[in-house]
Formats: sequence, structure tokens, C-alpha cells
Amino acid sequence: MTLATRSLRAGGRDVPLLAGPGALRELPEALRASQFEGRLFVVADAVALDAHRSSVTDILSDAPVLLVSGAEEDKTLASVAEIWDWLVAQGAQRRDALVAFGGGVVCDLVGFAAACYLRGIALVNVPTTLLAQVDASVGGKTGVNHPRGKNLIGAFYQPLCVVADTDFLATLAPRAFANGMAEVAKMAMILDADLFERLEHLAPVLRPDSGEALAPIIARSIELKADIVERDERESGDRMLLNYGHTVGHALEAVAGYGTLLHGEAVAVGMQAAAFIARRMGVLHPEVAERQTRLLGDLELPLTWAAEPDAVLGRLSVDKKRAGSSQRWILAERVGAAQVRDDVPAEIVREAVSSVTAR
Ligand SMILES: NC(=O)c1ccc[n+]([C@@H]2O[C@H](COP(=O)([O-])OP(=O)(O)OC[C@H]3O[C@@H](n4cnc5c(N)ncnc54)[C@H](O)[C@@H]3O)[C@@H](O)[C@H]2O)c1
Ligand SMILES: [Zn+2]
Repeated sequence: MTLATRSLRAGGRDVPLLAGPGALRELPEALRASQFEGRLFVVADAVALDAHRSSVTDILSDAPVLLVSGAEEDKTLASVAEIWDWLVAQGAQRRDALVAFGGGVVCDLVGFAAACYLRGIALVNVPTTLLAQVDASVGGKTGVNHPRGKNLIGAFYQPLCVVADTDFLATLAPRAFANGMAEVAKMAMILDADLFERLEHLAPVLRPDSGEALAPIIARSIELKADIVERDERESGDRMLLNYGHTVGHALEAVAGYGTLLHGEAVAVGMQAAAFIARRMGVLHPEVAERQTRLLGDLELPLTWAAEPDAVLGRLSVDKKRAGSSQRWILAERVGAAQVRDDVPAEIVREAVSSVTAR
């Protein structure tokens, strides 16, 4: 069994990050080590809990469970209020903790509920999708959607501990698995050439139930994200690099209608747009861009998405991560390294968007 443990120094404390097959079994010990003595209240994605009920009941036997849908449409303030109502009815106290068991939707929702209940009770993230294990559960961003936009309401709130049990991934649909691999490929492309090479070798054979092969990849991805969050918890500098592929990605998600194009799929297409820009700016060698294309293809991710280029360009100017008046671009310069640029000519952006939205 491979079990990686690292702790992330954030929010003034050390957040243990456990990853690997069977990692949930380590939770009680991790909680004891954090001097946690309260009760646990589990908010669970109904699908994930249904698939893994016995592991949860074995380990968190007496914890009350609230089931939520885990659907993006339900990542709302109304769902947060339901969690608060439940906690009040259960008599949850300041010393207790909320456990988020599910994908990124549940981690974001429950994290925000924990941040505000009694002005903040402890949060334990038990991510059950690949995307949530490598991304959403680590770093302290929590929140919900507003009818006018995704993730508009939220808070930075660090969990007490994160448990990425790779056994839970076995039940993921291939598309949900590829969705998470997009974020792994993104981190490898901008931060870690070694991880990128490992992915190149493994991509054609990696599957949701490849627990042993996946564990070190997931552990490394979590480490990469944790390193960046430690350097820049509030996203004023380095954390921005994690937005590689997200500028065009977010615009595509908005144009496609949330839920049509999965987030990781949009990021893959966005990475292709960023690579186009990087090539045109003379930052990235075409052969390296080709390696990215091959890897995303091997991971069964889309490389283009049919959309109206003008609609996508229109969305780019409203990307909430934009700083100042000119758009910021994260451009890979080689495998494992990236730079932030705010001098990309509009014409090159237009060509890049056309190249990835061609019908
Ligand atoms: N906070 C952050 O830093 C951060 C980062 C990235 C993404 N996010 C958020 O994460 C969300 C997307 O997360 P996601 O991709 O995990 O989607 P998700 O939470 O919607 O889960 C996808 C689907 O998988 C199902 N599911 C969950 N675990 C399962 C399992 N083990 N087996 C089978 N099915 C399972 C869920 O019921 C759901 O239908 C978005 O809302 C996004 O905004 C947050
Ligand atoms: Zn993302």
C-alpha cells in the first residue's frame, strides 16, 4: 500500500494531507494527532456514499450523515442553509467537525458551511472524485454559485485534514476520471517535468481502478498544489500559475452552459489555446506543444470544442480572475515551467480561440 502524507502549512497551522489506497482508515489517527476531540458530522454526496457506504460506516460509524445531491446546480446558498439547519437540529458545537464526503461540489459547499457555522467549525475533506482529490479539496477555497456566476460567494477556509482515498475512485465514470486527469496534466505541464513524463508513459493504461498506479500520481499532484498554496495562500502571485488553461477554459464553460462541458474538459481545451498563444509568442517550442496535445489525447480529453469564437472572446473580458485592464495569460515555456504574461496581442488571442473552437 502506498500512503503519502504531507502537511500543508496554511492558515497558521499544518493541514495533514493523506493520499493512497485505504487512506480513510488513517483518519481517526490523524484527528487524534490534531488533538481533535469533538464529534463528526458527515455531509455526503448521495452517489458517492451509495457506492462506498461500507467504508464510511466502518470508519465513521457513529457520525450522523446528511445526504446531498452533489450536483453543480445545488451548489447554492440554499443548500448551505440546509446544512446549517441540520447542524443546529443536531446540536453541533464549536468543538465538532464537518466532514465533506464527495466531489468538488460537496467539498466547496461543505467547506463554506463549516467556515460560517458558529463562525467556523473544523472541516475534514474526504474527496471522492479525482478532481476533488488533486484540486478542490486542497488549498482552502470554499464557496457556492450565485445565479449570476460560478463560485461568486465563498471564503478561504483551511480544512483540519484532507484524506484522498484512491479506493473511492474505482467507481468513477471514465469521463469523470478524465476530467480530474486534466488538472493533473495541467500541474505537470507548468510545474513538474518528471510527473509529465510519468503521465506520458501511463496515460494510455490509467483507469479509475488503477489504485496503486494512481496513488503516487495523486500524491505528487497534491504536493504540487500544496507547495503553491503554501507560497501564496490568497492567490496574489504563484497560485495564479494554477490557472493555466483556465482563462479560455472558464470562458468555454460559460458559453457551453455549465454542465455541458466538464470543467477539466474545458481546461484541456484551454491548455491547447494557451499553447497556441505560447507558440505564437515564441515562448514554447512546437514540439513541446505537440507533447501536450498527445498527452491530453491519450487521457481522452477534448482538444477543441465547437463554439462561436466571438461568444468565447466576449466572455474572456469578464473573467473574474483578470487583473487590471489587460488579460493575464499563463504560458508554458517548456514542460514543467510557465510564465505569466499580460502583453498577448488581441489578434493572437483571437486566433487561438478560433483554433480551439473550430467546428
Ligand atoms: N475549491 C477549489 O479549489 C476547487 C478547485 C477545482 C474545482 N472546484 C469545484 O469542484 C466542482 C467540480 O468537482 P467534481 O469534478 O468533483 O464534480 P462533482 O462534485 O460534481 O462530482 C461529479 C459527479 O461524480 C459523482 N461522484 C462523486 N464521487 C463519486 C465516486 N467515488 N464514484 C462515482 N461517482 C462519484 C457525484 O455525485 C457527481 O455526480 C466544481 O463546482 C468546481 O467549482 C473547486
Ligand atoms: Zn480547475
